[in-house]
Amino acid sequence: MTSYKRTLVTTALPYANGPVHIGHLAGVYVPADIYVRYLRLKGENVLHIGGSDEHGVPITIKAQKEGIKPQAVVDRYHTQIKTAFEEFGISFDIYSRTSSPTHHRVASEFFKTLYDKGEFIEQTSEQYFDTQVNQFLADRYITGTCPHCKNPDAYGDQCEACGTSLSPLDLISPRSAISGSVPVLKETKHWYLPLNKHEDWLRQWILEEHKEWRTNVYGQCKSWLDMGLQPRAVSRDLDWGIPVPLPDAKGKVLYVWFDAPIGYISNTIELRPDDWQLWWKNDETRLVHFIGKDNIVFHCIVFPAMLKAEGSFILPDNVPANEFLNLEGEKISTSRNWAVWLHDYLNDFPGQQDVLRYVLTANAPETKDNDFTWKDFQARNNNELVAIFGNFVNRTIVLTDKYFKGKIPPSGTLTDGDRTVLGEFAEVKQSVETLLEQFKFRDAQKEAMNLARIGNKYLADTEPWKIAKTDMARVATIMHVSLQIVASLAIVFEPFLPFTAQKLRRMLSMTDCRWEDLGKSELLPADTQLGAAELLFTKIEDDVIEAQVQKLLQTKADNTAAATFRPADIREQISIDDFGKVDIRVGTVVECSRVPKADKLLQFCIDDGMGGRTILSGIAQSYPTPEVLKGKQVCFIANLAPRTLRGITSEGMLLSAEDSDGQMVLIEPITPVKNGAAIG
Ligand code: MF3
Ligand code: ZN
Repeated sequence: MTSYKRTLVTTALPYANGPVHIGHLAGVYVPADIYVRYLRLKGENVLHIGGSDEHGVPITIKAQKEGIKPQAVVDRYHTQIKTAFEEFGISFDIYSRTSSPTHHRVASEFFKTLYDKGEFIEQTSEQYFDTQVNQFLADRYITGTCPHCKNPDAYGDQCEACGTSLSPLDLISPRSAISGSVPVLKETKHWYLPLNKHEDWLRQWILEEHKEWRTNVYGQCKSWLDMGLQPRAVSRDLDWGIPVPLPDAKGKVLYVWFDAPIGYISNTIELRPDDWQLWWKNDETRLVHFIGKDNIVFHCIVFPAMLKAEGSFILPDNVPANEFLNLEGEKISTSRNWAVWLHDYLNDFPGQQDVLRYVLTANAPETKDNDFTWKDFQARNNNELVAIFGNFVNRTIVLTDKYFKGKIPPSGTLTDGDRTVLGEFAEVKQSVETLLEQFKFRDAQKEAMNLARIGNKYLADTEPWKIAKTDMARVATIMHVSLQIVASLAIVFEPFLPFTAQKLRRMLSMTDCRWEDLGKSELLPADTQLGAAELLFTKIEDDVIEAQVQKLLQTKADNTAAATFRPADIREQISIDDFGKVDIRVGTVVECSRVPKADKLLQFCIDDGMGGRTILSGIAQSYPTPEVLKGKQVCFIANLAPRTLRGITSEGMLLSAEDSDGQMVLIEPITPVKNGAAIG
């Protein structure tokens, strides 16, 4: 490992257009917090930089809907998010926001530097403009009829009925989703960061020099790089954001994904105006970005390219991105209210922040998507936190109180058994440390929990309450050893369960808490008077969990009732002869991959029983890992006139249907049939 003097930890800036939920905590903020607390305990020089991401189109739309200013929207959510993080003990050194004057200045200057260095290219294109509200329309905010399937509600970037990826210009009779009016085409100029020019060094830097990155992160980067990078627009026509700092740029703002990551820099400047450069421009600083998987490309490719283009900044050393956390088997969704909101949790489980932190880390989606269920939450609380951790600590304190009036007894003579136990818990330090340094928080917490298991077993094996009448010297030794284990628990759990660790320190009258003391057998000197006992964890009863499950079921019922899904109108009647013209067949997917430079298209190689054919389908977003389709049987229109997209000729169309989530699902025969079999 290269030596470094300080670590700058950043956490993705959440959009200030809604409150935060367990997915945010599990994916980004709890792991980052564990990491920074651990480094602080080790006495390292570390900063944790966070803040709200307050620009972008969704915020303006929300403001329009509510009839308020975008600033009012972000003010509301920024405060709410900041409070929620504080309540969960996420220990930021600063939690600022991208609407701050410092950020506006820093982001403008950053843009200007790149502009002056000739790092951008300028391009003019025609885009739809809503003359009623006087603004250019983002692709998602244009609707119209799909040229392929005639669905009247297709979006400017995709038709969700047939899955074809579209550009706004493809739509028949386009309408503005904001005003409903017919938009007009207008020329507009934007600045682009030519990522293609950065491809070579990015390949070298990531693929050769950062093989240690998590496989999900490395793999996603490789797949982007292999597809070839394109210039990316860094400006937008919008009246909410940071104005493009050029004379001929009226009505243009920096693209939200250009300004947001610069927020990490601005917030560092706000926190450390005098020595911020040490944190961003010094090779002995290690930069670590904690993010969710949907942010990988921006943090591993786009932002590094921006930093490199600027020229004086360091690049991230690691980007430990998590996969997603699902809730009761379904994807968390803000719009469908399928989430456990942090403010709701705090209402329902006051003072139990650590329980949620514990469960989210125990189920951290580190290598794959993972699931949060209320049953598991209850089980982990009752069987682990209460039955092992809480029980051990409680017995130790209560017995010390009873037999020694709350004073730590001297160790006396240790038996071999005592020494084995002390040896075991000394080992925990090394293993937790190694795991934390590899960002394996889930395993690290498991190891830490082993310490509580060791303690619990020690008390169960030695049963001091049984010998209190006969051998008080032995009881003293047992309590002395147990208290040392509790003291180690207070240290090792400080990163994971900070509220509990604090209670433990108070109970043990521990004045300092240093990682290097973890596992030491003489952490608490004899004769120390313990503080008052405090309750650590409480059993969660079935009815409490049932109430949470019911709340989710209610959400589901509300969603179904309110579901806007309505089957499309039946099209014009056709004769049996018309139908006979359509030749639908079954085939097997031999190969399936993403099409370079087209983020919605998948290219299928189909065994059609007649020598094979290529079919393109705009369903890439429904199948993020297209490899899983290999070997599946699918149905396709075999006599559709070929069409060429991105230089590839598509010979047919795959049949798919839209599910309630708007995802496209391929149609498969319920039992396998011969490739080439006709459907009719
Ligand atoms: N707001 C973005 C999201 O929630 C994350 C921005 S991270 C930053 O997906 F780098 F841009 F700050
Ligand atoms: Zn369509």
